[in-house]
Amino acid sequence: MKQGTWVLFDLDGTLTQSEEGICNSARYAAERMNLPVPDEATLRKFIGPPLVWSFREYLGLDPEEAIRAQEVYRERYNTVGLFENRVYPGIRYVLRMLKKAGIHTGVVTGKPEGPTGRILEHFGLLKWMETVVCAADNKAEKELLIRKALPEDAAAAWIVGDRKFDMEGGVKAGIHTLGVTYGYGSEEELISSGAERIAHTPREIAEILCPGTEPVRGAFLSMEGPDGSGKGTQLERLAETLDRYGFEVYRTREPGGSPIGEKIREILLDRENAAMTDVTEALLYAAARAQHVREVIRPQTAAGRVVLCDRYLDSSAAYQGGGRKLGVEQVLAINAPAVDGTLPDLTVYLDIDHRKAMARRCAATEPDRLETEPESFHARVEDGYHQLIEQDPGRFAVVNAEGDRDEIAAEIAGKVLARLTEAED
Ligand code: TYD
Repeated sequence: MKQGTWVLFDLDGTLTQSEEGICNSARYAAERMNLPVPDEATLRKFIGPPLVWSFREYLGLDPEEAIRAQEVYRERYNTVGLFENRVYPGIRYVLRMLKKAGIHTGVVTGKPEGPTGRILEHFGLLKWMETVVCAADNKAEKELLIRKALPEDAAAAWIVGDRKFDMEGGVKAGIHTLGVTYGYGSEEELISSGAERIAHTPREIAEILCPGTEPVRGAFLSMEGPDGSGKGTQLERLAETLDRYGFEVYRTREPGGSPIGEKIREILLDRENAAMTDVTEALLYAAARAQHVREVIRPQTAAGRVVLCDRYLDSSAAYQGGGRKLGVEQVLAINAPAVDGTLPDLTVYLDIDHRKAMARRCAATEPDRLETEPESFHARVEDGYHQLIEQDPGRFAVVNAEGDRDEIAAEIAGKVLARLTEAED
């Protein structure tokens, strides 16, 4: 079953952007050994090449000192530096696409086995890797690692990497070479060391290696909560976490999210429009949504991105159905042609007492047309949300939003990542 095409990825600078942890650990090694601390540009050069080589080349150490420096580096790297790391956005898409195309994938890295395994595990990338070959006994030559990783009967093989070491290793091992310019090497370095093909973004890797494969589906996430629930902050934090895990996040909001939708938003939130009837309001939200679903939400998820939407259908059900007393059923009926079956895969609900939420909100900014509604309105909105959650508990991740921001962010990240990574298998 190991026949077919194999694609081997370098780790640092190709799958993950590890500069923060690597630079901090190299600086730590220099400080601890009472050596002059290299400048930022030099520290960045530690990414990719074998460490001992870098300590010799950039700090002028002799072989013994360089091995000692590597040990000190690892003291910090293996405990802290390891997780000062990000997966390049789009990498998850590439790995899913290669799997879909029936291509075998693996990792060859100059890093030792311990941290490599922990990084791949931490970011949920290990499940795609049929082989992981790491440096052992300070032997990190790519040619040898590649030969070790490939089964004898592999029909074709590629190395994907960001530095000359990857390209030269691939050439020596007699396999195809794809250089990526979003990592730490330049296009010039890659071409002069034998890159056959160049990718400027992770997505281009998939375009080169499995052209014509239909995109894998991304996901549609929404976040909901009463006005003042801290939704803005939590959306920001969640987008950052998903980006760090290698998802391509498309952020959007309702009402709005498309040029036409944003115009409708202005009408809806304008305090001058006090004469707007409840049904008009519900229809306008639905109209903006109809455009948003077709112009943004469906195309972006179909292209493999994670759409992260600030409010969606549940807001209409809670605000117009509950708050305006149009009734949840009628509001859902009004919205049926707008959403046409498109519901979020997961909705994060920030659960907070509406009085506490409103107190927070009013302290922050000038209220808009809906926020100036009396307390009873917001009480009905909150009840509306709770009804929706009861009706469809599987779609919601309910998070207590009254506590500490960091803890709320961590709980949301845990729940969303679990759902997204489960869906990619
Ligand atoms: P916004 O400024 O986005 O508020 P927030 O930051 O609290 O999300 O304004 C959106 C307002 O519109 C908010 O008060 C909720 C309301 N709304 C509805 O009443 N129905 C809907 O369908 C949507 C999407 C929003």
